[in-house]
Amino acid sequence: MGLTTDIEQVRADFAHGLSDVQSGEAYAEQLRIDFLGRKGRVAGLFASMGSLAASERPAAGKRLNGLKAEITSALADLDSNVEVNAPAVEAELDLTLPGDPIPRGALHPITLIQEQIKAIFTRLGFSVFYGPEVETEYYNFAALNFKPDHPARDMQDTFYIADDLLLRTHTSNDQIHAMEQLDPPLRILMPGRVFRNEAINARSHCQFHQVEGLVIDRNTSLAELKGTMIHFAKELYGPDTVTRFRPSYFPFTEPSAEMDIYWGLDTERDHRITKGTGWLEIMGCGMVHPNVLQAGGLDPQEWTGYAFGMGLERMAMLKWGIGDIRYFFEGDLRFLRQF
Ligand code: DAH
Repeated sequence: MGLTTDIEQVRADFAHGLSDVQSGEAYAEQLRIDFLGRKGRVAGLFASMGSLAASERPAAGKRLNGLKAEITSALADLDSNVEVNAPAVEAELDLTLPGDPIPRGALHPITLIQEQIKAIFTRLGFSVFYGPEVETEYYNFAALNFKPDHPARDMQDTFYIADDLLLRTHTSNDQIHAMEQLDPPLRILMPGRVFRNEAINARSHCQFHQVEGLVIDRNTSLAELKGTMIHFAKELYGPDTVTRFRPSYFPFTEPSAEMDIYWGLDTERDHRITKGTGWLEIMGCGMVHPNVLQAGGLDPQEWTGYAFGMGLERMAMLKWGIGDIRYFFEGDLRFLRQF
């Protein structure tokens, strides 16, 4: 009695499983294992025959064999349905043909140089921080100690989106966001895109990339800033790179400096790009101005800092001898494939 109901149950469950396979919700092979496998449902029913009286066994065995045959043939039908489709596919598939080349992408030179710069500074314990490209006057200028009538606000011809909303003209805005959001001491690198309302030509563009650095600690020094920058230049441009620092002015640092690398004066081109001096400016830097620390919510009596900023297009142009900044933004594969 029990076995008969069990057989019907297995038959019903199989029908269910079969329709799942046909609708693509289950695998035929799994269905076969579940029902015909060594530990499957049919094997289970055969095993339970042992508990039947000897007189009942022949009839039960017959019913069970019937069930097994049904399931076997249903599964075979599934297989042959697959085979019906197979020859057509096979005819199109010639495994001896050489493959089609898959065009490989490459990293953009700006991405490459940004990654190299990040790698150099992360080895020095810096972490990476990203700030907004759309910015308020406060973060882009005021908090960085640009006075309201400071000529630099005109110098950096700014794209305004609304009255108090602009496209940032440098990544220095991130210094303030970082000080507001992170607890000192800080060692952070802030890469990003910046925008200036400038005519586009071989040397300048209305959008470009910068990497900003900021170190905040209880007693940083100009010596540490110089050492870090010299190490960086040698890592990026080679161990024999010669550097020099020139006093400069930025509202957000005091004292401020610019770092040059010695480029050489061997060729006509060297003369042209170094304006006959042999030296090339690669970044601005300085000790963070106390007003900027304060704007970032830090007490200048307790905290000191240094900052630096550089343009990535310029760094890449120097590294790879690229003569025109516009190449970076045109997406021309003949240019991009060279990196
Ligand atoms: N923000 C400056 C620029 O766009 C570059 C710069 C100079 C960043 C000195 C700094 C710095 O952090 O200390 O020209």
